[in-house]
Amino acid sequence: MRREELTEEICKNLIERAIETLPYAYTPYSHFKVAAALLAENGKIYTGCNIENASYTPTSCAERTAFFKAVSEGICHFDAIAIVGGKEGVLEQFCPPCGVCRQVMAEFCHPKKFFIILARSKEEFQIYTLEEILPFGFSPENLSN
Ligand code: THU
Repeated sequence: MRREELTEEICKNLIERAIETLPYAYTPYSHFKVAAALLAENGKIYTGCNIENASYTPTSCAERTAFFKAVSEGICHFDAIAIVGGKEGVLEQFCPPCGVCRQVMAEFCHPKKFFIILARSKEEFQIYTLEEILPFGFSPENLSN
């Protein structure tokens, strides 16, 4: 989507959906809860939370949970994602996506037309393009030449 199309109402709705999802974060090891709400081009919203594991490495981040829920239902085109997170689910800081999640975004999203909304509350949020948080990224385009 174009930046002008990402209204405050859309942002606040995505943030609300992410905050609602936060209690489902399964975090018995880090106690760091993260949740995301991913807006698909068709208007549907896919939520996700982080899901940890006793063996640690199988842990899924909230963002990837949301992406994989959507892709597993045949939805592969996206406009924006809202992300919230904090220790014990307390939203003190903004929670930027990890490098692996940025790479997953690069697989499915346009670097200039996909927006990452980092929120501390419905009132306090920052908006970045994928290009801003993943400059000079490797994407499917690199394989098509
Ligand atoms: N985490 C996410 O869910 N998303 C991120 O982008 C950063 C990290 C999770 C993974 C782990 O369960 C916890 O936060 C601490 O790293």
